[in-house]
Amino acid sequence: MVPDTAKSAPASALAVKPLSSVGAAEVEGIDLSQDLDPAEVAAVLAAIAGNPVLIFRNQRLSKDRQARFSGCFGELEGHIARLSDGRTFPTVHTLTNLGADGSLINMDVARLNWFWHTDKSYHAVPAFVTILHAVEVPPSGGDTQFSDARMAYDALTPGMKARIDGLRAVHDWVASRINSGTSPATAEQRRTRPPVSHPLVRTHPDTGRKSLYLGVHVSHIEGLPQAESAALLAELTDHIGQERFIYTHGWRKGDVVMWDNRCLLHRALPNYEIARHPRVLNRTVVVGTRPR
Ligand code: SIN
Repeated sequence: MVPDTAKSAPASALAVKPLSSVGAAEVEGIDLSQDLDPAEVAAVLAAIAGNPVLIFRNQRLSKDRQARFSGCFGELEGHIARLSDGRTFPTVHTLTNLGADGSLINMDVARLNWFWHTDKSYHAVPAFVTILHAVEVPPSGGDTQFSDARMAYDALTPGMKARIDGLRAVHDWVASRINSGTSPATAEQRRTRPPVSHPLVRTHPDTGRKSLYLGVHVSHIEGLPQAESAALLAELTDHIGQERFIYTHGWRKGDVVMWDNRCLLHRALPNYEIARHPRVLNRTVVVGTRPR
């Protein structure tokens, strides 16, 4: 529990404790509800460069404070969907399974998140970090999994590395809806989100490490016959789904998890009683750079 009077600790007090070999670490010594000074922002960026999943426990963040914290790392990005009344999503939006009356909501948007993906890869300039703050969590399950796409790339055979070198994948919101079996993209989404192509092997802009860049938003690999493209994507998706590359985050109320979409894939696990227990996470996404 964070006392009301808690203040952010100086950056030198940040303790980064690795949780797994898969680049997840718990960060202690910082209260994200307070304004961060430049040294603290730099310390968080240094931590995420070494550990692409950062976990901050026992945080209490209003949506405004989450936006303020997230905005330290760049421009915030809205959500592609529209709210049921037609308005755009605010930059801090809520992922939930239950409505205000406690009944199960339409899980169509959430269901897409059950497949491996990297946020906003259907944009020419996809996400840098995503930040989730756990407001309500089920008593068990409702986990989020992260696959370290750098480790997955490193573990490929030399033959596979040579085969995929220079290939580009097309990421497309329309395909994403089809791949996940969720409701079709709307006319507005088709108009505003044309397909984009990204390298299948991405080089991290800060660390220079290569990683696989794919997921549910991919429609096909450019220049390959459809069957070959589908088979290669299936093989690489199986590859990144191996336990040895995965960190599974079991949520606690108050957790803030911040991850680097430029070298990870993630998915939510529907491994809880969805119609019974609330799972409420506030989400912000920070715009990144064009993949190279
Ligand atoms: C996401 O895919 O951005 C959300 C993941 C989750 O709900 O655990």
